[in-house]
Amino acid sequence: MSQTKEVTHIDNIKLSEDEKEVIIIDQTKLPNVTEYLSIGNAEDLYDAIKQLKVRGAPAIGICAGYGIYVLAQQMPQDSFDSFYSEFAKTKKYIDSSRPTAVNLSWALNRMERVVLDNKDKPVSEIIELLGNESKNIHKEDIEMCTAISEHGLKLLKDGDGILTHCNAGPLATSRYGTALGPIFLGKEKGMNFKVFADETRPLLQGARLTSYELEKGGVDVTLICDNMASIVMKNGWIQACLVGCDRIAANGDTANKIGTSGVAILAKHYGIPFYVLGPTSTIDMNCKTGDEIEIELRDPNEIKEMFYEQPMALKETKCYNPAFDVTDNSLITAIVTEKGICYPPFTDSLASLFED
Ligand code: MRU
Repeated sequence: MSQTKEVTHIDNIKLSEDEKEVIIIDQTKLPNVTEYLSIGNAEDLYDAIKQLKVRGAPAIGICAGYGIYVLAQQMPQDSFDSFYSEFAKTKKYIDSSRPTAVNLSWALNRMERVVLDNKDKPVSEIIELLGNESKNIHKEDIEMCTAISEHGLKLLKDGDGILTHCNAGPLATSRYGTALGPIFLGKEKGMNFKVFADETRPLLQGARLTSYELEKGGVDVTLICDNMASIVMKNGWIQACLVGCDRIAANGDTANKIGTSGVAILAKHYGIPFYVLGPTSTIDMNCKTGDEIEIELRDPNEIKEMFYEQPMALKETKCYNPAFDVTDNSLITAIVTEKGICYPPFTDSLASLFED
C-alpha cells in the first residue's frame, strides 16, 4: 500500500465480525496511541460520540448507523411495537449526544425509516435490513468522499499553499476525508501542496489529527496556532482555504468547528478563496439560515485544564466554550459536494442538488 493510502484507507469505524459491536479508533488517544475501542451498549455509544472518541460529522453518522444496528439486535423481538418503542427511545438518546452535526440525526432517521417502512415484516428481518442500511451509509460515504476529493482537486494547482482548520480527513469520515481529500488525492497523482494546519483550540483536532494524518501521508504540513492564520496569509503562503462542515443551511451558511468563521473573514480580507467541502448529507435544507443551527456548548475545563499539566485559569473564572461557529455564506467562495461544486447564490445552487 502507498504511504498516502495507509492514511486514507484506514478502518476508523467498522462492525466486529459477529456484528455485535462497533469498533472505532479512539481519536482522543491520537496521535500518540492508536487504540481500538469496541462499543456494544448505548451508554458507551453515547459517550464515544459526546467525548469525541469518534468525531467529524460523517464519521459520527456512520458510527451512529452501525451503533443502532448493534443495539437493535439486543431489543425485544416478540412484537413490532415493543421493538419499535425501544428503538425510538434509544434513537432519541443517541441523537442527544451532540446537537450540531446534522449527520447524526440524518443517519439515525435513515435507520428509523427502514424500521417504519418494514413494520409488517418479522423483527428479525427488520434487524437484518438495518444491518444492510448501516453498511450502505458507510459505503455511500466512501463514494461521496472520493467524489468530493475529485471535485475539490479541480480548484487547486500543484504547489498551492492551503490552510485548513480542525480535522476533515479520513478519521472524520471514511477514506480520503472531505477538506483533506483533494490534498491526499493530489498527492497520489504526484502533486505537492504546502498545508498549514490550525491547531484548533481547545480540543486540538488540527494538531492531534490533521497534522498527524498529513505527516503520515507524506504531505508537506506545517502546524500553526489558530492566531497565526493571519500572518501566513499575509506572507502570501496561502492560495486556498479548505474546511469541512457540520451543517450547511439552505442559504449556504455553514456551521463548522469554532474558529472557522474567523478564518473565512481573514481569507476575504486577503483575497484568498474559501472553500467548504462536505457531502450532501451535511446539507440541511430544513434549516433556512445559520441562525437556526444549534451550537453545542462544551465543558469550560476543555479551555482551562485539558492538555495542561496544571490549570491555566482560576477555578472561578467563567469560560464560554462554543464548539462551532457559523460562517456567513457571503464569505464562502464555493461549496464542494459529491454532486459537484456549488457557487453563490447558494440558495439556488444547493437546492438544485436535491432536484431529481
Ligand atoms: O467537534 P468535532 O471535532 O466533531 O468537529 C469537527 C469539525 O468541525 C469538522 O470540520 C467537520 O465535522 C467536518 S468532518 C469531515
